[in-house]
Amino acid sequence: MPRTRIIQCADGIPNPDGITDAVGVLNAGGLVAFPTETVYGLGADAFNQAAVRKIFEAKGRPSDNPLIVHVASLEIAWHFISDISEKGLTLASRFWPGPLTLVVKRKEIVPSLVTAGLETVAIRIPNHAVTLELLARFGGGLVGPSANSSGRPSPTSADHVVQDLNGKIDLILDSGPTIIGLESTVIDVTTNPPVILRLGGLSREDIEKEIGETHRTRSKDLLKRSPGTRYRHYAPRAQVVIVPHQDRDAFVKQLEHLKDEGKRVGAITSSEDLNAVDRSPSHLILSSSVDRYAQQIFHALRELDRSQVDCILVEGVEETGIGAAIMDRLMKASENKSRHNG
Ligand code: TXA
Ligand code: MG
Repeated sequence: MPRTRIIQCADGIPNPDGITDAVGVLNAGGLVAFPTETVYGLGADAFNQAAVRKIFEAKGRPSDNPLIVHVASLEIAWHFISDISEKGLTLASRFWPGPLTLVVKRKEIVPSLVTAGLETVAIRIPNHAVTLELLARFGGGLVGPSANSSGRPSPTSADHVVQDLNGKIDLILDSGPTIIGLESTVIDVTTNPPVILRLGGLSREDIEKEIGETHRTRSKDLLKRSPGTRYRHYAPRAQVVIVPHQDRDAFVKQLEHLKDEGKRVGAITSSEDLNAVDRSPSHLILSSSVDRYAQQIFHALRELDRSQVDCILVEGVEETGIGAAIMDRLMKASENKSRHNG
């Protein structure tokens, strides 16, 4: 494939010619990276099996990990859904478009490559003007995994997409950095209570305000229901070590220990105490606002990887609201480097 084309959509405003080109690429079975409020997605026509297969190839993604179908409206979502619970409908009408993915019973015609053979399909209406326009003009559903190489941190800018997929995909719609910075929350609404399969941009607290209790277990059964949670991901090449929020002593101890081992150490911190410890070029300081921290964390992990450190010491955050999703990603990034996902 020739070099990947990049089309600018400045200030999040759809570029009409760019959208026309992107729709053309999708109709021809090509791959288009698109911005969303969470992270950039890698789009292909959900009903075109050859195109969907290209997504797995471009990302190096295991084929047993199902994809989210992105649509412009509930009306189009019904092309994929055979049945949805009351609670599912409540969440859809309250939070779509938004950082929420619903796992629902699928229609027979949804290709099994999209659902990895499951009886369910994951659906979301993203909240981004460029991509809503793209989806509306395309008219159908686009599968949209995060537009990174499998296992790497999700892309929060077009630049990250280029780092991982240049030459492997046709087009990128560049609309600048994404607002939320973490992927959508995935919730299975086929059971009662519904089960949160992946924490993300919409907090569990906000979901429970609408529909009451949800489950979130780490049992084997749950892992079967969301194959993606099985693999290591969100991870830079360097080893990631988490230190507790505001625990200066733990941070200093770890830093010295790793340096004694001869490792090149990078750091990501957000609290004043820790920010002041080690002002080396590979010490990145993120915002103390948890929303801003979420926005910046994947970029910071990628930046430190580019500076070729062996190990990244990263300060944790409080596990409430989006903080719970941040900690989920950091924990996955710090897991043993054995398996990969997307
Ligand atoms: O924010 C997001 O969700 C981004 C943007 C681009 O929309 N997309 C994204 O897709 O993160 P991906 O493929 O990287 O993650 C999708 C997650 C995986 O953990 C996958 O296992 C799960 O959703 N998933 C997809 N279909 C499923 C299904 N039918 N049942 C259970 N889990 C499913
Ligand atoms: Mg992903």
